[in-house]
Amino acid sequence: MWFMRQAGRSLPEYHRARGDTALLEAVARPDLVTELTLQPVRRYGVDAAVLFSDIVVPLAAIDFGVDIVAGTGPVIERPFAGRADLDRLRPPDAEELAHVSAAVRLLVAELDVPLIGFAGAPFTLASYAVEGGPSRHHSRTKAMMLGEPGLWLDLTERLADVAIASLRAQVAAGAGAVQLFDSWAGCLSPDHYRRFAAPASRRVLAAVAELGVPAIHFGVGAGELLEDMAVGADVVGIDWRVPLDAARSRLGPDVAVQGNLDPAACLAPWEKVAAEARSVLAANAGRPGHIFNLGHGVLPETDPAILQRLVDLVHRDGHAVEP
Ligand code: CP3
Repeated sequence: MWFMRQAGRSLPEYHRARGDTALLEAVARPDLVTELTLQPVRRYGVDAAVLFSDIVVPLAAIDFGVDIVAGTGPVIERPFAGRADLDRLRPPDAEELAHVSAAVRLLVAELDVPLIGFAGAPFTLASYAVEGGPSRHHSRTKAMMLGEPGLWLDLTERLADVAIASLRAQVAAGAGAVQLFDSWAGCLSPDHYRRFAAPASRRVLAAVAELGVPAIHFGVGAGELLEDMAVGADVVGIDWRVPLDAARSRLGPDVAVQGNLDPAACLAPWEKVAAEARSVLAANAGRPGHIFNLGHGVLPETDPAILQRLVDLVHRDGHAVEP
C-alpha cells in the first residue's frame, strides 16, 4: 500500500522543509526532493515511495513556459494553439532531466521499499497545454480534438515522447515502477478516449514495458474507460466511484488493481474510516494483485494520524480478508 500525494501538503514536516520555495524550484533540488519523498515513508511505513515532482516538470524542463501558481495549479504562458507550436514540444534530454535523475539516485540509495516514478499521460498534459491551465469542461481541448484531429494526434504523440523520455530517465536512475497519470481522461466518452487518447498512452505503456518495470495506469472518474486503460498496463488505478469487486470482475485476473478508498472518507472519525477501508479489502476478497491506495490524492486537510492508523489496519488485515 501507498497513497497518492502521500508526500506533501498534509504533512507538517513537508511545510517545514519546503517553506516558501516555489514548487518548480523545489523539484530542481535533489536534496529537498529526497527529503520530501522520504518523509511519508519514514512516518507511515508505507510499502512504496512516490517521487515528489509534478506532471508538468518535463514541460518545464524543455522551456515550454510552465509555472505552478499556488492555489491554481499549472499555468502555461503561451498555450498550444496550432501546428507552429509543435516545434516547442520535444522530449527533454538527459541534461534537462539531470535534477530528476539525481533525486531518483539519491532516493534508491536510501530506500528499502520501491520508488514509484510517474508521468502525465498525453491527454492530461495536452489539456494543460491547450487550455493554458486547469479547466472544468476541457472545452478548447475537445474543440481541437474534434476540429483538428490530425493536429491533435500529432500533439499527443509529441507528449507521449515527452512522457517516455521522463519515465526512461526515472527508471534508468532506479525507479522500480511507474504510474501514468491520466487524471482528466474521465471527461472523455469511451469512443473519444479510444480515438483521441488511447493511441499515445499505449505507446507510453509499451515503452515502459520494454524497460521491464510494472506500469500503473490511473484516471479519475474513468469508470467507463477501465477496460481500455488496462490495455498495456500491469495495474489499473481505480477511483472510489467504481466498486473494487466490479472493477476486478471487469478486468479479470491478469490485471492488478490499485485503490480505492475515497480520500474524503479519511476526514471522517477513525471508526468510519476503518469501516470504509475494510469494505475496500472485502471487495477485493483476498484476490492477489491489489495495491491498497486512495481513489485519488490525499487531501491537504487530512490528519496524518488517520493515515497512520489506515496503514496499520491494512498491514494487519489486508491479507486476512476472506471472500
Ligand atoms: O503536495 C502538493 O500538492 C504540493 C506540491 C504540488 C504538487 N503539484 C505536487 C505533485 C503542487 C502545488 C502542485 C501543483 C499542481 N499540479 C496542481 C494543483 C495542486 C493542488 O491541489 O493545489 C495540479 C492539479 C497539478 C497537475 C497535476 N500534478 C496532476 C493532474 C497530477 C496527477 C495526480 C492527480 O492529482 O491527479 C500531478 C502530480 C503531482 N503533483 C504529484 C505531486 C506530489 C504526484 C505524485 C503523488 O501522487 O504524490
